[in-house]
Amino acid sequence: MSRNENPDQSAVSVIGLGQMGTRLAQAFLAAGYTTTVWNRSTAKSDALVAQGALRAATVQAAVTASPLVVVCLPDYPTVQGVLGPVAENLRGRTLVNLTSGTPQEAADAADRAAGHGAAYLDGAAMSGTRLVGRPEALFVFSGSRDAFDTYEPVLRSLGNSVHLGADPALAPVYDTALFGLAWGTLAGFYHSLALVGSAGVDPAAFATVATAHMPFITSLLTEHARQAQSGVFPDDDGTVEVHRAAIAHLAHTSATHGIRTEVPGLFRSLLEQAAADGHGASGIASVVETIAKGAHNE
Ligand SMILES: NC(=O)c1ccc[n+]([C@@H]2O[C@H](COP(=O)([O-])OP(=O)(O)OC[C@H]3O[C@@H](n4cnc5c(N)ncnc54)[C@H](OP(=O)(O)O)[C@@H]3O)[C@@H](O)[C@H]2O)c1
Repeated sequence: MSRNENPDQSAVSVIGLGQMGTRLAQAFLAAGYTTTVWNRSTAKSDALVAQGALRAATVQAAVTASPLVVVCLPDYPTVQGVLGPVAENLRGRTLVNLTSGTPQEAADAADRAAGHGAAYLDGAAMSGTRLVGRPEALFVFSGSRDAFDTYEPVLRSLGNSVHLGADPALAPVYDTALFGLAWGTLAGFYHSLALVGSAGVDPAAFATVATAHMPFITSLLTEHARQAQSGVFPDDDGTVEVHRAAIAHLAHTSATHGIRTEVPGLFRSLLEQAAADGHGASGIASVVETIAKGAHNE
């Protein structure tokens, strides 16, 4: 079946009912799609069957039940182990792989799917499990644009489903980059919590003020990305030297309060390297160049 033959868009199969797969299946059910589920240990499908899902007795039955097959397992070798023996049944279907992995694993999975006549979308769930099914849950996909267009209404029932491009490796690239963003943000937040805690501040009261501060941080992203792209770093948001002095205050205050200093220490050392690279008078976003050139070039 070619993608243009108007496949049935009312049915979806979900293979792998762990924390994430269960939420995916629930979101499809809630959106009214006929949802067939398979999991290695059958007990995990009981609650979904009670909610209206159809239980597939075998992986093959799950694959053949729907034109759209969503797989969510711990890693790509497990996906290959589960789908490999029934891969010929994927012919003419679309495989959406929401398993976390590397860009190379995604490229290899796309090649295997193409070899079996299946369209392939690699994907990543970016917003944990609790938000799945809500518009604010970000899901990124890459691979066949045709397949994404065909099944976008189904995938939209998971949340804010975004197609990044035809290269299947893009989803894991974004997945890892966005995780890096989240961890960097959370590392700063956790350091802040320890610092204000050491000063006797109520953590929840601090979180309220911190939340109100976040729009300023996010307002910098697009402009600083443009600066990184152009290689021109105006000083409107502070120079490397200005931020270096400010972060020294944070490190000093943290040490004075008896808390660890690795989190500010990491950024401080990057700013020092940026200054050594000749960016002391450049805008703070010039630190991207220091990071991008890699430690081996220092
Ligand atoms: N949980 C999250 O918040 C989250 C967020 C974003 C992305 N993800 C990604 O989603 C994927 C799944 O994560 P999860 O949290 O749903 O994992 P999980 O709760 O640990 O569930 C793992 C699932 O894989 C199945 N499984 C494990 N080994 C298997 C095998 N050899 N053959 C067949 N089935 C096997 C398990 O089946 P049994 O029940 O039989 O053990 C279970 O259904 C991962 O790649 C993860 O990185 C998760």
